[in-house]
Amino acid sequence: MHSVLFVLVSTCLLHSANAWNNGLQKTPAMGFNTWNRFQCNIDEDLIRQTAVQMKDLGFLDAGYDFINIDDCWLLKDRDASGSLVTDPDKFPSGLKNLTEFLHGLGFKAGIYEDLGLTTCAGFAGSLNHELTDARLFVDLGFDYAKIDDCNSGSFSGTNPERFQRWTDATTQIQQETGKMLFYSFVEWQSFDAWTWGPPIANSWRIYDDIQPNWGRITAILNNASFIGDFSNFWGHNDLDMLENGNGELTLAEQRSHFTAWALTKSPLLIGTDISSLSQDSIDILLNPEIIAINQDTQIGEPLKPFFWGKNPDGTWDPMFPAQYWSGFSQDKQHTAIMYINFNDRTVDLNFTFAHSPHLQADKKYAIRDLWKHEDIGVFSDFFFDGSIPSHDARVYIFTEQT
Ligand SMILES: *[C@@H]1O[C@H](CO)[C@@H](O)[C@H](O)[C@H]1NC(C)=O
Ligand SMILES: *[C@@H]1O[C@H](CO)[C@@H](O)[C@H](O)[C@H]1NC(C)=O
Ligand SMILES: *[C@@H]1O[C@H](CO)[C@@H](O)[C@H](O)[C@H]1NC(C)=O
Repeated sequence: MHSVLFVLVSTCLLHSANAWNNGLQKTPAMGFNTWNRFQCNIDEDLIRQTAVQMKDLGFLDAGYDFINIDDCWLLKDRDASGSLVTDPDKFPSGLKNLTEFLHGLGFKAGIYEDLGLTTCAGFAGSLNHELTDARLFVDLGFDYAKIDDCNSGSFSGTNPERFQRWTDATTQIQQETGKMLFYSFVEWQSFDAWTWGPPIANSWRIYDDIQPNWGRITAILNNASFIGDFSNFWGHNDLDMLENGNGELTLAEQRSHFTAWALTKSPLLIGTDISSLSQDSIDILLNPEIIAINQDTQIGEPLKPFFWGKNPDGTWDPMFPAQYWSGFSQDKQHTAIMYINFNDRTVDLNFTFAHSPHLQADKKYAIRDLWKHEDIGVFSDFFFDGSIPSHDARVYIFTEQT
């Protein structure tokens, strides 16, 4: 355990005021991605069924409007003209046909490539073909490109230079075609993308791949808790795709995972088999009051920790991140408060208004619980909400009383 506050002071010089506004996604992207659950076991039937189910279940209406194909959609070699080749066994009708189907339902479509010689799964990479590949993605009807960082050691630029290649390619293709691709990237050679990602991309991964277990979720959130200043409108820290529905995550853990990703303003990309998602898991992912904070068009800043709880404030602890977080919602009269119980037992939630920079110690607040969907009452000085089960989350909106 050590404090990283001194590191933060020195890195806060760069922040999202210089975010790249390419006209796409002022608020975080929402949708679906194949990787977490299906890895390379993908085909056009899976994508079509997923899209139809997401529409039927209300995900599209709730804002989950990207359907993104991850690695393994392509062959290992380019064709004679240098173009990437879609795997004809997985996508016999072709990707253009698939994006038209997705657009017809009301979704947008995403695709995957890699900065290196090959993708992480060993298929043709984009190094030195960025422009050709960006043009192909637009021709095929895609709206979103996720660019990974495997097998890219042979190109010896700095990280910003390496990832700028796709910023330049998408920008040039926009000039040719009028169509801009959302640009999301994964950099994992140094894990500092938040310091140079904002001017060149729409979102950037901040940590190693997520896994469907509580320890990985707390580790990612711990790192995210120190870099909220770098995420805002048009450019977002990406905590990685959601694991709701995967592994052994309990409903309390799924609630906390979704809450934390939404309120740190991460992209929300569902990464599970929609056809086997329980109604309880669906209800968590569709919580409209939590999604509204993630998609707030007035306040771009994520919630940030104001009181660590068990650990002293400022403590870096991958197993026990900050527990109490706050941020304005819609305007400065409304404050969202997030609490997650990282203890392995039930504990009381209790904090003093004076601790949060988003609350005024001398004001009264009407408090609404966004998981119970209930107004709780009007409170002053401090807020006590009794016992919170292990690994569960609470979210409240505090409305200032005048
Ligand atoms: C896509 O392919 C399917 C069959 O594979 C066909 O029925 C459909 O008409 C095609 N759609 C478009 C838009 O080309
Ligand atoms: C998490 O944060 C620590 C402390 O700042 C840093 O050393 C580490 O590289 C980060 N890990 C990742 C994967 O971002
Ligand atoms: C909650 O915190 C306040 C302020 O520190 C304190 O006065 C109050 O006694 C606490 N309530 C409980 C039930 O622990």
